[in-house]
Amino acid sequence: MVRRYDGGHVRAALLGWPANRPTGPASGLRLIEDDEMATVTFDRVTKRFGEVIAVNDLSLAIENEEFLVLVGPSGCGKTTALRMIAGLEEVTAGTVLIGERVVNDLAPKDRDVAMVFQSYALYPHMSVRDNLAFGLKLRHVPRPEIERRVAEAAKILDLGGLLERKPKQLSGGQRQRVALGRAIVREPAVFLMDEPLSNLDAKLRVQTRAEIARLHQRLRTTIVYVTHDQVEAMTMGSRIAVMNAGLLQQVGTPRELYDRPLNRFVAGFIGSPAMNFVAMRLEGAGEGAALVHDGLRFPLPPRLRGAVGPLSGREVVAGFRPEHLDVGPPEAGETGFSTACDVVEYLGNQELLHLRLAEEDLVAVVDAAAAVRPGETVQMRLPLEKLHLFDPESGLALANLAAAA
Ligand SMILES: Nc1ncnc2c1ncn2[C@@H]1O[C@H](COP(=O)(O)OP(=O)(O)OP(=O)(O)O)[C@@H](O)[C@H]1O
Ligand SMILES: [Mg+2]
Repeated sequence: MVRRYDGGHVRAALLGWPANRPTGPASGLRLIEDDEMATVTFDRVTKRFGEVIAVNDLSLAIENEEFLVLVGPSGCGKTTALRMIAGLEEVTAGTVLIGERVVNDLAPKDRDVAMVFQSYALYPHMSVRDNLAFGLKLRHVPRPEIERRVAEAAKILDLGGLLERKPKQLSGGQRQRVALGRAIVREPAVFLMDEPLSNLDAKLRVQTRAEIARLHQRLRTTIVYVTHDQVEAMTMGSRIAVMNAGLLQQVGTPRELYDRPLNRFVAGFIGSPAMNFVAMRLEGAGEGAALVHDGLRFPLPPRLRGAVGPLSGREVVAGFRPEHLDVGPPEAGETGFSTACDVVEYLGNQELLHLRLAEEDLVAVVDAAAAVRPGETVQMRLPLEKLHLFDPESGLALANLAAAA
């Protein structure tokens, strides 16, 4: 449901229009229906800055009321994608839609979106109250309506006691809440947030993360949220879109991306510490097929046999997550290897082991009760169902290729 101030309902009733009569933007008001879909769609969208392709042929459908996180390393095109939704950046090719409406040529102010930036850019000489109200005053929203919205945003964000203060009298977290408030009072169909937590310290980031999640549950507005932090992406997103170098890599729920990454990039980007990767060679065939690399020998799990193919000698990249390794001899359905542990990082409930395996550095996260000592040779075990295989050239996950074929 889209909630916002709009004279349309009232006026439609007065004029006896059918509820679904479309009114163009030129009329200055739109009919807002309760079930209006605040979807955002990229249809083959490309954005170039001269030689740089910031966003490359992006197709992505963001659903109504969804909390979609756009994540990827610095420079991958996240902010550019967001700015194209806001109308702050022109589209080079393709189509951007909000709801059913193509917005490529629509002015930012007519798009019914509100953006929260990394730098909260509050007006320093204005009180919190005036900062919240300012955008509405510019839009000539009637005063009682402004007061209602400011009061509601202040309540949602717990800013009630701070309304008369100036921004410099606020902590970083409080300032960021005012910046969020400024977006909330707009009552937009879609919130766009570009790394809104990156100026906060670690503890405040965790708190504000939860606040934004709560806000989403409460407002049920579509949110497109940009971050380079995979932990933020995993904890906040109902779905995550992973980008790299302008290209969309995979879209899915946090669990889908974690369990079934489509390629090596996503596998290495999602999850912390990052997945271990080892170049291995396929030996033997059928039941005897195994992946080998120096001291490692993993039997090839049956589910991956079809994916790897019969080609003995084929090179593959094996991937396994640090948290799926454990100390001890392998049990049924597991494989194992024995290796030297050179560094142990104690984390309280867990410990992080840095393992040396021939040329490779591997990381394992195990129960601190294992009490591994630096320099010790440890027997590690790994459930075979947690093993991922990737093509060394394309980086594509082999199991998923087989499943798609
Ligand atoms: N106005 C511009 N002119 C030229 N190149 C630009 C412009 N804006 C962005 N770029 C380039 O487009 C690419 C994508 O930039 P973008 O800001 O979207 O990345 P990002 O994913 O948001 O990165 P970060 O995590 O660092 O904010 C980068 O190579 C960047 O240098
Ligand atoms: Mg950015």
